[in-house]
Amino acid sequence: MFAQAASLLTIFVASATALTTVSIFNNCTQQVDPAFTPQVLLGSVPTGGFPLAAHLTQVVTFPANYSGRAWGRTGCNAQGVCATGQCFTGGENCTSPAPAGPTLAQFTINGFAALDFFNPTSGEGFNLPVTIKPGSGCSTAPVGCTAANNVGPGCGDTTTCPTGVGYTIQFC
Ligand SMILES: *[C@@H]1O[C@H](CO)[C@@H](O)[C@H](O)[C@H]1NC(C)=O
Ligand SMILES: *[C@@H]1O[C@H](CO)[C@@H](O)[C@H](O)[C@H]1NC(C)=O
Ligand SMILES: *[C@@H]1O[C@H](CO)[C@@H](O)[C@H](O)[C@H]1NC(C)=O
Repeated sequence: MFAQAASLLTIFVASATALTTVSIFNNCTQQVDPAFTPQVLLGSVPTGGFPLAAHLTQVVTFPANYSGRAWGRTGCNAQGVCATGQCFTGGENCTSPAPAGPTLAQFTINGFAALDFFNPTSGEGFNLPVTIKPGSGCSTAPVGCTAANNVGPGCGDTTTCPTGVGYTIQFC
């Protein structure tokens, strides 16, 4: 009886918060500045992007029902002037999309039937290898782009996982 009530409570809390945890892992040998449009959350603060040194991970959360794109910017200064992937507005803390060019990781959280839909794509451009790794609770293999024109396992394809599993987005 108690166990049943506790699990119902867990389900209620999970669906009421419905945030998706996304770890951004920079496996490149140089700094990469991840960017997000629309903005996501770093702790409780909205963020459109930040610097991420080589080999470091930063955890962000995607709001409930988030639909947007993440990408990596290279060669950025502190003002967010970058060699690739630079945002139109907002500088380091992006408020609008990048010009065509960067490899994209696109997500629709809880798009339909309690599923997330996501795809890595280099169809509009490629600047870095990008891999999306589903968290535990999703049996889908990692998908990613290793070169332009949608080269890479699942690059350009739409993949699904149950909402709430969380993801790692890896650069390089
Ligand atoms: C990180 O990048 C190196 C190459 O620089 C590669 O050998 C390694 O497998 C990558 N790590 C992961 C977890 O993919
Ligand atoms: C980034 O921008 C959002 C609003 O666009 C703002 O709320 C947030 O404080 C900014 N973050 C930083 C680190 O400036
Ligand atoms: C997210 O979508 C679900 C299903 O359509 C809906 O029930 C829920 O209210 C939405 N949550 C937010 C915060 O928009």
